[in-house]
Amino acid sequence: MLQLVYISTARGQIMAADIQRILGVSRRNNGRDGVTGLLFFDGVRFLQALEGDPDIVTTTYERIRADARHSGVVVLSRREVDRREFGQWAMASRTALEGESEMLDRVAALVAEASPAVQATFTSFAEIRRKAA
Ligand SMILES: Cc1cc2nc3c(=O)[nH]c(=O)nc-3n(C[C@H](O)[C@H](O)[C@H](O)COP(=O)(O)O)c2cc1C
Repeated sequence: MLQLVYISTARGQIMAADIQRILGVSRRNNGRDGVTGLLFFDGVRFLQALEGDPDIVTTTYERIRADARHSGVVVLSRREVDRREFGQWAMASRTALEGESEMLDRVAALVAEASPAVQATFTSFAEIRRKAA
């Protein structure tokens, strides 16, 4: 199974409704394709983990990368995993619109099973956001 983690920058103002729209389509497509993961949005940047069949994750990522709602898409980690490390969610989501400390706890819980490097990526992203707030 392939696990891919990327970071990107939102283009223009992204609102809660935009996130809901992205999640709606993501959950439908990912549910169909057996793709799972986590989408984290801090108000400026997206951090997303995708897990599933290697070909399908690659195709999904290529589709996401071409999306005009973000730019500067950079892969942070691309690795083979024996099992899903981000749970069974078609696309779990956390945004900085939630309470900050609550968000940190939730991110920590969601990435608890991931490799130390991937875990550090997510928790430091959330922590940077909290300090900037
Ligand atoms: C930050 C971000 C994350 C996304 N994540 C996913 C995803 O996990 N799965 C997915 O199918 N589409 C995702 N999308 C949407 C895709 O870019 C694309 O709009 C969608 O897959 C098209 O689906 P459709 O052909 O069924 O309309 C994401 C878009 C953005 C901006």
